[in-house]
Amino acid sequence: MLNAEYWEERWQAAQTGWDIGEASPPLLHYTNQLTNKQLRILIPGAGRAYEAIHLHQQGFTEVYVCDWAASAFAHLRQVAPDFPEAHLLVGNFFELDLTVDLLLEQTFFCAIDPELRPQYVQKAAQILRPGGRLAGVLFAHPFPFQGPPFGGTLEEYRSLFSASFHILQLEISPYSIAPRLGNEYFIELEVA
Ligand SMILES: C[S@@+](CC[C@H](N)C(=O)[O-])C[C@H]1O[C@@H](n2cnc3c(N)ncnc32)[C@H](O)[C@@H]1O
Repeated sequence: MLNAEYWEERWQAAQTGWDIGEASPPLLHYTNQLTNKQLRILIPGAGRAYEAIHLHQQGFTEVYVCDWAASAFAHLRQVAPDFPEAHLLVGNFFELDLTVDLLLEQTFFCAIDPELRPQYVQKAAQILRPGGRLAGVLFAHPFPFQGPPFGGTLEEYRSLFSASFHILQLEISPYSIAPRLGNEYFIELEVA
């Protein structure tokens, strides 16, 4: 079962093969175009939260990270000790109570049970203010093994997200790291 204990154990055992060791280049390409440093941004299932650290260092003041494995934020606390403690949300994404302008997706969607995908879409739409956006990457193909990670298809993503979002971008990212190049869609979705 993919519960908090499962993920905490993976952190404790250093089984973090998803971790690319740096801020995700497709996400950076997107966030580098943002000019409003007061934008409220949430990264769910943030793990070491490299993107949040980068945004914080760039002067973004309203960056929030959520992860229900308490160990996940050890790295962020060490590297960015002045990151506001109140912005570290240790808990279940599906139970969050906050509103943001932008949600950033980096290997959180692929980590949850695929049965929860409709709930992810609903929750993301609920957390975002009207007109808010969800941006990030999704794996472009199903994986030939039992996840996590769980992949998907263009058709599935279109049908899932169009229930609550206008699809602004859903295309293979040219900025993915080499091992993921060609297997990541960049998405930019606006709450309908
Ligand atoms: C595959 S890791 C990705 C971490 C980070 N985004 C990265 O790319 O390095 C998924 C993370 O999501 C967290 N997670 C899974 N389900 C969650 C939930 N329902 N609420 C909050 N965090 C969750 C896990 O603890 C884990 O740290």
